[in-house]
Amino acid sequence: MPSSRDNSIVVLGSANMDMVAKVKGFPRPGETVFGASFGMFPGGKGANQAVCAARLGGTVVFIGKIGADVLGKRLADTLKRNKVNVRHLMRTRDTMSGTALIAVDGKGENEIIVISGSNMAVTPGEIRQRKGAFARARVILSQLESPLEAVRESLALGRRNGAITILNPAPARRIPGSLLKLVDYLTPNETEAEMLSGVRVNTGARTEKAALKLLDLGVRNVIVTLGSRGCLFVNRKTSKRFPALKVRSVDSTAAGDAFSGALAFALAGGKAIEEAITFASRVAAYSVTRMGAIPSMPALRDLRKWRPGR
Ligand code: RIB
Repeated sequence: MPSSRDNSIVVLGSANMDMVAKVKGFPRPGETVFGASFGMFPGGKGANQAVCAARLGGTVVFIGKIGADVLGKRLADTLKRNKVNVRHLMRTRDTMSGTALIAVDGKGENEIIVISGSNMAVTPGEIRQRKGAFARARVILSQLESPLEAVRESLALGRRNGAITILNPAPARRIPGSLLKLVDYLTPNETEAEMLSGVRVNTGARTEKAALKLLDLGVRNVIVTLGSRGCLFVNRKTSKRFPALKVRSVDSTAAGDAFSGALAFALAGGKAIEEAITFASRVAAYSVTRMGAIPSMPALRDLRKWRPGR
């Protein structure tokens, strides 16, 4: 019988309007500092990852909720312009669209405050109503800027249909073991790996220990992203470190999103995991050399032309 599955990627996640200030240094509590510039960029971990995979050439379906406001309209337009399928993007009049206040310092590091708004109004029932999209998908990708019950429902539908499930557990939140058991690839950074595993992550050996603990909790593969130090891939058969490309960081916002979006794209296209990780690392490195979240995601032709370190 012919399979009705295509190579699509379903992303359940957030869309936020990012209000970004460039600063020399982050303010301390009670301090006021002057910013060098301000910009408004479409973002949100879900939208960033969806656009990343779509710009690379993936077929991407986005599930999320925006407010019936001007920011929501801009976010929807951005997704559409980037060829993300928004058939399952919902709108609500009850809450405003998600926003994020972001400060980026001279080293490209960031501090982020997310005001979730409509992103947290997605229900498991609304996910179930969209089960047709899950039945066709090759990869299901989610993060933690959506309600955990909705994330769990998405991963469960993906698992039931034989799709590859990826969870980028950001921002760091405690999540139940029943959710972790549905994850094929978990992509935490060190903070998230520490919170989820309960293992203090302060050395390479401790990072591996945290990853092993996450395998014990039911995740099939863990990829801990380590910023400029690359990433660590761990499953029951292997533990392997992948280096990062050396680049001059302009804005590290959404580097983790670039990594997860590109990983989803590569796995949906049938790449083996180690090749997919090398590709995702390159996409993440590219993204930190550009300002903003969605504006920093490359198309394949940008990557081909790009010479890191120049
Ligand atoms: O990962 C970066 C993203 O985190 C930003 O775009 C912001 O909206 C928050 O969701």
